[in-house]
Amino acid sequence: MRMSFDEQAGSYEERAGLPEAVCCEVAALALDGASGLVLDVGAGTGAIGRELASRARYLGLDMSRPMLRQFDAPRLQADADGRWPLAGGSAGVILFSRSAHLLKSETVLAEVLRVGKSGARVLIGRVRRPRESAPERIKREMQQRLRDRDLPGKNGERATRDFLDALEQRGATRLPERWSAEWTEDEAAIDSFTSWRGKPGLGGRAVADGVKAQILDELQLWAEEQFGDLHARRAVPRRYRLEGAQLAG
Ligand SMILES: C[S@@+](CC[C@H](N)C(=O)[O-])C[C@H]1O[C@@H](n2cnc3c(N)ncnc32)[C@H](O)[C@@H]1O
Repeated sequence: MRMSFDEQAGSYEERAGLPEAVCCEVAALALDGASGLVLDVGAGTGAIGRELASRARYLGLDMSRPMLRQFDAPRLQADADGRWPLAGGSAGVILFSRSAHLLKSETVLAEVLRVGKSGARVLIGRVRRPRESAPERIKREMQQRLRDRDLPGKNGERATRDFLDALEQRGATRLPERWSAEWTEDEAAIDSFTSWRGKPGLGGRAVADGVKAQILDELQLWAEEQFGDLHARRAVPRRYRLEGAQLAG
C-alpha cells in the first residue's frame, strides 16, 4: 500500500525530524570509508541529505516533490520502485534513511546492483526505540492482533534482513552495524493511536475500516491496562541505526 508524503511535507520535520547533532553523526558514519557519489533514496526533506551534501557529492531521489522542496541540494523527483535516473556504476554510497520499508525490495535490489559501483556501500538507516518501551510494546501488540486475524503487516526488520541477505548472496559483504548516540523525545502512548487512526490501513497493509477500528479500540483498552494514562508524556530514548553491505569490489 502506497503512502504519499506530499501532504505532510510542511510538517514532517516537526513531527519526525531528527536532532541536528544526530543528522551530522549519521552523515559522518555513512561517509566513513566511502567514496564517490552519495545517492539518498527517499531523501524526503533532506534531514540527513543536507549534511551529506555539505560533505560529499550528493544526489537525493524522492517521489514527493513537496518533500524535496523543503531542502536545497542536488535532488530529483523519481519513483524508486522504478528505474532510477542514474547511469550504471555511478554511486559509491546508496542510502535508504527511513525509506527502505516503503519500497519494493525486488526492484530496488536490481537498481542497487546496477547503479552501485564496485565496492559501493548500501546503507539502511532507521530510528530504534528500546524494545521494552511502551510505544514498541504497543506496536508489537498491534502487529500480533493483525496476525491473529490472518492479516500480517509489514515487518521492516525482516525485510531489511532479507534485503541484506540477498545482497550477500550476490557477493556483497555485510558491514558492521553503526549506531548514533542516544537522544530522547517526549512521547505519549496515545500518539501511536492518533497516527495509526489518521493513516489508511494498519501495519503497512490494507485493512477494512471496521476491522481496523475494532483492533485499535481493543488495543487501546489493553494499552490503558498496561500503561495507565495514555496521554502522559514520557521521555523515550532513541538511537539511529545504520545497517549495510558493501558490494563486491
Ligand atoms: C519517512 S520519509 C524519510 C525521509 C528521509 N530519508 C529521512 O530520513 O528523514 C520517507 C520518504 O521516502 C519517500 N518515498 C516513499 N516511496 C518512495 C518511492 N517509491 N520512490 C521514491 N521515494 C519514495 C517519501 O516520499 C518520503 O519522502
